[in-house]
Amino acid sequence: MFSELPLKKAFMLFEPGPVILVATNDGEKNNLMTISWHMVTDFTPQLALTTGPWNHSFHALTQTRECVLAVPTVDIAERVIRIGDCSGKDVDKFKTFELTPLPARKVGAPLVAECLACLECRVTGYLEEPGIFLLQGVQAWIDKKRQERRTFHANGDGTFVVDGETINLRHLMADKIPDGV
Ligand SMILES: Cc1cc2nc3c(=O)[nH]c(=O)nc-3n(C[C@H](O)[C@H](O)[C@H](O)COP(=O)(O)O)c2cc1C
Repeated sequence: MFSELPLKKAFMLFEPGPVILVATNDGEKNNLMTISWHMVTDFTPQLALTTGPWNHSFHALTQTRECVLAVPTVDIAERVIRIGDCSGKDVDKFKTFELTPLPARKVGAPLVAECLACLECRVTGYLEEPGIFLLQGVQAWIDKKRQERRTFHANGDGTFVVDGETINLRHLMADKIPDGV
């Protein structure tokens, strides 16, 4: 039996994951923002993420047309949330949150050493309404030795789900299923 769910809460049913960091460099300094509204749009991989000019990162994204998507794990969750609660306009986020920028191979934006994985991306488009960047991944990195590998996922209300049990249903799927990372 269903009862009505307020429409303004419906996005919480579809909150994706994991929560990620978007690293940029505007030519002068590195910056980070936290993003939970993103999606993969193909295997190459292309991705889309939702943001707009109210964020400082927006200007680096539009000017340099480059960024790094970094995947944090639960051990640095508090830092990731705090990064999403201040602006690079006022704060040097790498310094304040004790994260280490590493040079990327194909873009000017930095990798984030404390993250599980990083994807160097070029911006291929921006849809002004509703504010969606389209990204092409051009170089991917993973820290295979990292012990903590659990990502975390936003519920949309300040609570988060941490990765739990993995079930393997590969045998039920057609080919083209990649091995796990
Ligand atoms: C868990 C979490 C998820 C967020 N998801 C998004 C998002 O999907 N899109 C967005 O524009 N801002 C999102 N934000 C807010 C930005 O991270 C925040 O505005 C950030 O401080 C912008 O930094 P900047 O001004 O240095 O670019 C999120 C914040 C948190 C804490």
